[in-house]
Amino acid sequence: MKRIVIVGATSGIGLEVAKLYMAKGWKVGVAGRNVSVLEWLKASNSESVETQVLDVCREDAAQRLNGLVKKLGGMDVYLHCAGIGKQNMDLEESIETGTVQTNVAGFVRMVMAVFHFFEKQGSGHIAVISSIAGTKGLGAAPSYSATKCFQNSYMEALEQQIRMRGLDIRVTDIRPGFVDTPLLQGGTYPALMRPEKVAKAIVRAIDRKKSVAVIDWKYRILVFFWRMIPRYLWVRMNIRTR
Ligand SMILES: NC(=O)c1ccc[n+]([C@@H]2O[C@H](COP(=O)([O-])OP(=O)(O)OC[C@H]3O[C@@H](n4cnc5c(N)ncnc54)[C@H](OP(=O)(O)O)[C@@H]3O)[C@@H](O)[C@H]2O)c1
Repeated sequence: MKRIVIVGATSGIGLEVAKLYMAKGWKVGVAGRNVSVLEWLKASNSESVETQVLDVCREDAAQRLNGLVKKLGGMDVYLHCAGIGKQNMDLEESIETGTVQTNVAGFVRMVMAVFHFFEKQGSGHIAVISSIAGTKGLGAAPSYSATKCFQNSYMEALEQQIRMRGLDIRVTDIRPGFVDTPLLQGGTYPALMRPEKVAKAIVRAIDRKKSVAVIDWKYRILVFFWRMIPRYLWVRMNIRTR
């Protein structure tokens, strides 16, 4: 039986992916801060699920992750879904720095813990949900887009180092467009996708061991054109979603 650990599986995309892996017959380790959702997941799937309260911003997060892996009896795939993000047109400092704490410091803390676990084990697969928001600096959400860009670069660097060292660890950077989850907090967004549909595409990308997966095709086209816009023009564009 295969085992996946999903950090940030108490809501939105991570929760939908967790349900799909349970349906596939995998053992699923779910983690996050929301105790009541974790208890509900364990109560309704006692055979296939192990849970762990875990805050990626806390120093004990790696230790808690290892505890979850022990309860699960091992880990073949790790999926990092924990993340926060807000539009911040007033540049409120706590939003900018809080986003860095979770999406950069918390992200690195977890990916490092998992990398060293897989290094010791001799194999494994690290998948993370970053975003298409990392493609360009977004004026409406500076810290969110910058932290997602960090995640994109980090996964690229990690994959290169893994190959340089000849390790049997796979890396998948998943970049969805807008998904209808609590993260977007009821704003109006174009081409909004259902989390159930995005979760299916994520499972496919992990199965196929893709290096990078932009979800879905509309966003693949958007990202292609975004990349071609020169900075001179980009900084003069009014990109707002509500
Ligand atoms: N929604 C979109 O449009 C969209 C698009 C592209 C990428 N993404 C990315 O997809 C990921 C999942 O987002 P979502 O849309 O599914 O949002 P969501 O419904 O708000 O889920 C976020 C998840 O992250 C967890 N989390 C947040 N802070 C955490 C912390 N400090 N420690 C542990 N877990 C933490 C939350 O769990 P707890 O609250 O229980 O801790 C929750 O399970 C994020 O990285 C987001 O940037 C989202």
